[in-house]
Amino acid sequence: MKKTLEVKTGTDEYKILIGDNILLSSGSLIKKKLTNPRVFIITNKLIYKLYGKKLENSLKKNKISFNKIIINDGEKYKNIKTINLITSKLLKYKVDRNDTLIAFGGGVIGDIVGFTASITLRGINFIQIPTTLLSQVDSAVGGKTGVNTKEGKNLIGTFYQPKLVISDVSLLKSLPKREILSGYAEIIKYGLIIDKRFLNWLLDNESKLMTFNKKYLIEAVFHSCKNKAIIVRKDEKEKNIRAILNLGHTFGHAIEAINNYQKSLTHGEAVSIGILMALDMSSLKGNSLNKNINKIKDHFQKLKMKTKIPNNIKRKTSLKKFKETMNSDKKVKNNHINLILLRNLGKAYLANRYSNRKLDSVINKYIN
Ligand code: NAD
Ligand code: GLY
Repeated sequence: MKKTLEVKTGTDEYKILIGDNILLSSGSLIKKKLTNPRVFIITNKLIYKLYGKKLENSLKKNKISFNKIIINDGEKYKNIKTINLITSKLLKYKVDRNDTLIAFGGGVIGDIVGFTASITLRGINFIQIPTTLLSQVDSAVGGKTGVNTKEGKNLIGTFYQPKLVISDVSLLKSLPKREILSGYAEIIKYGLIIDKRFLNWLLDNESKLMTFNKKYLIEAVFHSCKNKAIIVRKDEKEKNIRAILNLGHTFGHAIEAINNYQKSLTHGEAVSIGILMALDMSSLKGNSLNKNINKIKDHFQKLKMKTKIPNNIKRKTSLKKFKETMNSDKKVKNNHINLILLRNLGKAYLANRYSNRKLDSVINKYIN
């Protein structure tokens, strides 16, 4: 079982390979993309323990030499300090422009490694081997890289495309349910913003994904990446339409920043709450959505996705602070927050005009 997709931007072109147990043949897939048969695997202890040997054996079989760099696990390490650490190790190993970095992990590792690749020796190649559902359906594709700062999420970064993405759904078996649901928030996002057919498929088949049916997982990863590739092709650098991929993210990023990127709330959980806030705002804006929104809310509740901001985070914020944090988002232009809202299911748009009173009422509903 294997599916292939092509991502094209104005300047780059690469394949996403999606399948079951394809890590075992990753060496031969990677080899085709290398100038030098040398790679640097960047991962964390947990992922290395689970799957490191499988990757290394496949590289050895294909006569690719490798060094590994282990970094700390967690969103709170997605910062400049970690970039310094990786780049100094790479330079000690005398990395050269023909070497390739491999991001072997979830979205945190993917974003860190992509950023490192884009600035090391002014840019070296990198390959994504995403190991979480969220990274397979979203972060490994499209070339956004970056790190967090105390001012906000992903505020330092680059657009830099990988040379190849290898998504092996068998790796998802070891993911905790919580991480599956975090990835599912980004999957359902594609349905909500541009693909009503996919949304309906998800509403009908979510149980197959939750029970780790590989055929359905491959379908879900494939359709998510296909939707993302369509948008990235039109607008790689997020000048306009790509912004809709951030449905719920301006709210979600604020929640994560207020929580100081602690593990108590994952990125996907913050996005899940953020999506519901964006849906509430869409319906207050007068879009004729209410019945459909309730259907989505029921779906989130049935799956036990996060639908409310946890009390410990609520206690750390206020309307003023929440809006200030939202104001650090990249979608703020001239001190005005642009929101991604829905006209209907499957139809998102960038709203730069809306009532501030309505925005306040949505935020108040979630933080009180
Ligand atoms: P993550 O990378 O922190 O992974 C979640 C946890 O799962 C970690 O503890 C990780 O070690 C563990 N893990 C990874 N693979 C595993 C496996 N196969 N089995 C068991 N455990 C495993 O989180 P994530 O949800 O993958 O990614 C979130 C990040 O992605 C955020 O920083 C977000 O900003 C970023 N993101 C980027 C984009 C983009 O376009 N670049 C898009 C969406 C999200
Ligand atoms: N996850 C948002 C984007 O890639 O644009």
